[in-house]
Amino acid sequence: MKNLFLLLTLVTMPAFASGDGVHLDDVNIDLSDTESLQKGAGLFVNYCLSCHSAAFVRYNRVAKDLQIPEKVVKDNMMFTTDRIGELMIATMLPKDAKKWFGTVPPDLSLIARSRGPEWLYTYLRSFYLDDSSPSGWNNILFDKVAMPHVLYKLQGARHAVFKKDENGIKVFERFEMVKPGSLNKEEFDAVTRDLTNFLVYVGEPAQMVRYKLGVYVLVFLAIFLVFAYLLKKEYWKDVH
Ligand code: HEC
Repeated sequence: MKNLFLLLTLVTMPAFASGDGVHLDDVNIDLSDTESLQKGAGLFVNYCLSCHSAAFVRYNRVAKDLQIPEKVVKDNMMFTTDRIGELMIATMLPKDAKKWFGTVPPDLSLIARSRGPEWLYTYLRSFYLDDSSPSGWNNILFDKVAMPHVLYKLQGARHAVFKKDENGIKVFERFEMVKPGSLNKEEFDAVTRDLTNFLVYVGEPAQMVRYKLGVYVLVFLAIFLVFAYLLKKEYWKDVH
């Protein structure tokens, strides 16, 4: 029994350790929600693609998977190239990024798989004002992050309030709004959910094909079942 308890502790420990003590919020990821994915794609090209690439994905693939007409993609979503078959590459050159931010913004193609959707969703909603940081911003999930709060006009600017726990360690308590943005909390949550949904799709576009394939397989099985049943009846007719 004691050994079992020890084993359980060991198995569950890394899960606690990786949380960094910061609570991650649940996010409703739904790759069949095409409208959310379309909005996420629009937000991504407008707010993220200036610095971050998603270099594993092509514009025409996004157009097809998310059912956005190629003309709409060409006219509204492509700022760095005019070829629809091109990869989603950031506007900013890595050497400029290094100069301005001290680090190159990472490619976001696989970020939803490495960090997980809950982390991304929480990260995008956890920026706060910090005078000690070069950009003026910091993030609860990513201390001293070099990324500015690019969505602050939507979310607003907030201070973070910290307290000391019993061991004297600084822990995050809550945010205080300093200057409200154009969206309320629910609207901003929806925007960051759409972005996260899109980044999950980008992490594995083949999932969309699998989704569709799954439906065909089920339809096939349903039809097959009817014939299998009729066939069974036919065979057993003579046995009875
Ligand atoms: C002005 C440039 C800029 C824009 C625009 C920008 N980012 Fe960033 N981002 C950065 C930089 C620089 C870093 C690296 C931070 C570091 O390492 O300290 C970063 C880091 C990140 C990370 C953390 C990656 C990791 O290391 O795990 C995520 C996630 C991210 N950005 C998502 C986004 C999303 C989503 C958008 C659009 C809403 C966006 N970023 C827009 C500059 C930018």
